[in-house]
Order: sequence, then structure tokens, then C-alpha cells
Amino acid sequence: MTTLLFSFPEQDGFAGQLLAESGQLHANGWRSGEMEMRRFPDGESYIRIDSDVRDIDVAILCQLHQPDGKLMPLLLLADTLRDLGARRIGLIAPYLAYMRQDKRFQAGEGVTSHYVARLLSQHLDWMLTVDPHLHRISNLQEIYTIPARSVTAVEPIADWIKANIHQPLVIGPDSESEQWAASVAELAGCPWEVLQKTRFGDRSVAVSLPHVDNYRNHTPVLVDDIISTGKTMIQTAAHLQAAGLCAPVCIAVHGIFADGALADMQYHGLQVVTSNSIADPSNKIDLAPLISRALLEN
Ligand code: R5P
Repeated sequence: MTTLLFSFPEQDGFAGQLLAESGQLHANGWRSGEMEMRRFPDGESYIRIDSDVRDIDVAILCQLHQPDGKLMPLLLLADTLRDLGARRIGLIAPYLAYMRQDKRFQAGEGVTSHYVARLLSQHLDWMLTVDPHLHRISNLQEIYTIPARSVTAVEPIADWIKANIHQPLVIGPDSESEQWAASVAELAGCPWEVLQKTRFGDRSVAVSLPHVDNYRNHTPVLVDDIISTGKTMIQTAAHLQAAGLCAPVCIAVHGIFADGALADMQYHGLQVVTSNSIADPSNKIDLAPLISRALLEN
């Protein structure tokens, strides 16, 4: 059965990789959908679908880093496809935004992860993402009313560590990162530690020391889901180095890199490795095989 894959313009490369990665996607009828998406001079979105989508299943590839400029064209694209007769409309979002504001931290705030999930559920029929930031929400189905699945990058991360790091010690910088650190270490066949992090503000965090004495000959590998300002990684690395370990390799599934964070981390002598959920020079871990496999199970 044919499924047409429509990709946001700047994400064509990943779409091509998805289709090329698995000849099986092609064998199952996955093909590229053709469209024009651009902005009118006043900033409104223009969308024109060039493929025949009547009675066809479609999927939209849109990683949602810097989401506010993408959400409106995404919803308009989904509605256009629906209007033109598409059957089921899915979203492949290698990075899913608006997952961290999952409660009202201060009076008057919006619980935006719920609102965005509701919005996407109203326009789409299914969603697939990679390692969404699940903290107080334990499962996407708590906030999505459509089938919303996630796959995890722990296997490709573990493969990268096995291929590139001598005697790794996987370290999760905070308790939330335990889910990735423990699984990655198990697959990579190496020890792991999880630290305690206290956040004092958007750009200020303190991190506890691990039991370093056992690991003097290991290469510390920090594993987290997201690098945003980079402060968590930088401060954790500083503590580890002060305790006598060498500069860690920093791995994140999603490199958001707010405000020059990557340059800041490199300035502090850190090797930074991310997956290609968000295109960046630090990408070393390819998610296309993982996502292709998940799509075949859809
Ligand atoms: C937090 O809950 C996440 O798992 C990451 O630890 C966090 O987003 C990293 O943020 P930053 O790079 O700004 O320290």
C-alpha cells in the first residue's frame, strides 16, 4: 500500500536517508511526496501539494526544533492533505518539542506539553518520535489522543560508544537521564553512574560527584536526552575533571544548542556527539535506520 512521505524543505536530506536506508520502505510502497512549501512576503505559509494524495496514506517528516515557526505550516500541511483526500496522515518528528513544560511550575503558567499534544492530535492520525522528554508524563498516550509512539536511540548510541570509546564509563548527569544511561551502558557492556543535579535557574546547575576512584582508567561518557544551554554537560565535566577523570565525551540524542552552546562546550574542551534528530555538525549517530524500522512496524 502506498505511503507518500512529505518532508519539510530543510529536512529533505533526512527524508531521502529514510527512504534510501531501508529499501524495504520502498518495497512497502513508501515514496516521496511532492509539494511546494514557502512563505508569502508577509510571513504567512504557502503550501501546494503536487502529488495525488486521494485515498493515499501520507506521512509528514518534521523535526520540531524551534517549533513555533514549524507548527503552523505543519498544521496547514496536514489540513491541506486532508482536504485533498489523503486517508491517514502521520507525523514523523525525530525531535518532539514542548515536552518539558509538563506541569504548572509557577502560578499562571500554561502546561504547554498538553496543549501542543492536543493540537497535534486534532490534525494528525498518528505520530512517531525519538526519545521524547518524558519526566512527569510517563507515556505519550497520557497526552496524545492519537496513536503516539516513541522509539529510543539507546542502541545506536551504544553502538557508537562501542566503536569509538576505549573503556567507557557511561554517566547520566541527573536522575532523569538514568533511563538512557543505564540502557546504553547495558548494551555497550560497560559500567554506569548517575549523578544528582540541582537546577537554580535556566542557566545555573550544580552536579554531585560520582564514586570516581573505581574509574580512573575509564573514559567518561556523559549521556543525556537533550543538550540545550550545555550547562549541565559543562558543569558535570568540570566536576569529573576536578575529581581526576579526563574530559568526557558528551552524547545527547537531541542537540538543541541554544545560544552558541556547542561553541561553549567545545571551548571547554568537550567532544560533543549527537544524533541527527536535529541537523548539526555534531551529528555522528544516524537515526534513519531506527526510524525506518519503526515505520515498517507501523
Ligand atoms: C533535563 O531535564 C534534560 O534531560 C537535560 O538534562 C537538559 O535539558 C539539559 O539542559 P542544559 O543543556 O540547558 O543544561
